[in-house]
Amino acid sequence: MKITVSTGGMETYRTEGAILLLFDEEKLGKAAERVDKAFGGMISRLMKRGDFKARPGAVHLLYPAGHIPAERLLLAGLGKRGDFTLNRLRQALGKAAPALRAAGATDFAVAVDELGQDSEEIGQAIAEGSLLGLYRFLKYKTTDENGRSKFIQKISVLTERGSTVKDLRKGVKTGEIIAESTAMVRDMVNSPAADMTPTIVAAKAREIARQFGLKIQVLERRQMEKLGMGALLGVASGSVQPPKFIIVEYRRGGRKSIIALVGKTITFDSGGISIKPPENMDKMKDDMSGGAAVLGAIRTAAALKLPLNIVALLPATENMPSGSALKPGDVLRTMSGQTIEIINTDAEGRLILSDALAYACRYKPALIVDIATLTGACAIALGQEAMGMLGTNETYKQKIREAGCKTGERVWELPLWEEYYELIKSDIADMKNAGGRAGGVITAAALLSKFVQNYPWVHLDIAATAWSEKERPFTPKGATGVGTRLLTQFLRDFAANGK
Ligand code: BES
Ligand code: MN
Ligand code: ZN
Repeated sequence: MKITVSTGGMETYRTEGAILLLFDEEKLGKAAERVDKAFGGMISRLMKRGDFKARPGAVHLLYPAGHIPAERLLLAGLGKRGDFTLNRLRQALGKAAPALRAAGATDFAVAVDELGQDSEEIGQAIAEGSLLGLYRFLKYKTTDENGRSKFIQKISVLTERGSTVKDLRKGVKTGEIIAESTAMVRDMVNSPAADMTPTIVAAKAREIARQFGLKIQVLERRQMEKLGMGALLGVASGSVQPPKFIIVEYRRGGRKSIIALVGKTITFDSGGISIKPPENMDKMKDDMSGGAAVLGAIRTAAALKLPLNIVALLPATENMPSGSALKPGDVLRTMSGQTIEIINTDAEGRLILSDALAYACRYKPALIVDIATLTGACAIALGQEAMGMLGTNETYKQKIREAGCKTGERVWELPLWEEYYELIKSDIADMKNAGGRAGGVITAAALLSKFVQNYPWVHLDIAATAWSEKERPFTPKGATGVGTRLLTQFLRDFAANGK
C-alpha cells in the first residue's frame, strides 16, 4: 500500500474513490463546493434534505456518472467543526476506507484543506485512520467471503496548498509507521495460542530487532532459575511450552536514563489449576496483548529514531493446568526476594510481572511503565472505553493521560491508597496473589507496586480494551492493538520534552 500527497482539486482528480470530508451543520467548504458544482448541486441538496447528515462516522456513497473523473464519491461525516479532533478524523477515514474497498475501489483520494489545524498531524491521522480501518486478519480464511481479493493499493492525500505538502508527507510517514506497528500487534494478538507460543513471540521479537538494529536477549529457563525468577517459573511450571524472558533494547538517547516498558505476555491463560469456565476461554489467547504492545512501541520508537533509551521486557509463558502446575496454597519466592502465597492460579499476570518489574529495576530506569491484560475487574469498573491507570508518579500519569486523549486510547486513574494493601496480606507469606472481588484492579496493582522499588512507575490495565467484540472506530472486531499508539505518543512527547 502506498500513500502519496499530491496537489490538486477533487473535481479534476482521477481515482476510483473520492472522499469528501464534511462538517455537520455548516456550509460546504471551497473544495467540496467545486465538486458540488460539477455535480449540479446534488451534494448540497442531499444535505439540505437531510438524506445525508455529516455526523461522526456517517458515510454515503454516490456514483458521479461523469460529473467528476472519480468513479465513486464517498461523503464522510466529521461531526460539528467545533468538536473536531484528530480522533474524529481517524474515525472518518476508518469508516470511509473500508466502505470504498467493499464497493470495489482499489485506490482512493481524500481532500484535506478544509480541516485546518496542523498539517503534519492531519497527515498522520489520515494514514492511521485509513490503514487501521482497512486492517483485516485473513491468515486463516481460505475463501473469499470476507472480500479477501479486494485490496486498496493506493491512497492519495489531496491539497491545493503547496506549502502544506512537506508537513503532510512527514505526518503520513509517521502515521504509516505507527499503523504498521499496530497492525503487527493486532496480528500477534489475533493469532491462535498454538501459533503464538512464547518461543514464537521470541522469534517475532528477534525479527523486529534484526529489522531495526535493536539489541535482543532471550533468557531461557536455566537463566531464569539463576536469577531466581520463582514467580515466572511458577506460572510456567504447568506448561510444556518453555517460558522465555525477552529483553529488547533500543539506545539512541546518549546518556539519558532508560525507560523500561514491561508487557504481560501470557500466550494462553487457561487459569491453570484454578481453571476458567469454558465461555470465552478462547479469548484468552489475547493475554499477551501487553507484551505485543511494548514490542509495537519499541519498534515504532526505533523506526522514528526517537532520541531515547528504551528497554522492552516481555515475561512470556502459558498458564496451564497439569500435574506439574502451580497449586493454590503454594508459596513462590520472587526474584526480588519477596514471597507470594498463591490463592488463585488464575491471578498469574501479577506473578510474572513481579519478576519482570524487579528485573526492570536493574536498569535504574527513569520510569517503568507496565501494560497488562490483568483483571476482569477492569471491565466491570471502566467498560471498554478506557484502560485502568495506577501508579506512583503524578507527572508521568498526567503525560500518559494526555497521550491517551490525543490518540483516543484513553486511560482512567484508580487510587492506590494504603488501605487497599490490607486486602493482599497473607498469613504465611509476604503477600497473597488474589485479594477477593472487591477492588480487583487496585489489589492487582498494589501487588505490582511492591516490585518497583522507588522508581517512578505507571501501570496500565488493558484487560477490557485489548479485545473488542464489536467493530469500533478504525478497529475491526478482535484484537485492537491498544497501548501501542498510546505508548508511542508518550515516548514521542518524552523525546520532545527532553525529559
Ligand atoms: N488474563 C486475566 C484477566 C482477563 C480477564 C483479561 C478477562 C481479559 C478478559 C487474568 O489473568 C485473570 O484471570 N485475572 C483474574 C484475577 C482473579 C483470579 C483475582 C480475574 O480477573 O478474574
Ligand atoms: Mn488469569
Ligand atoms: Zn491472565
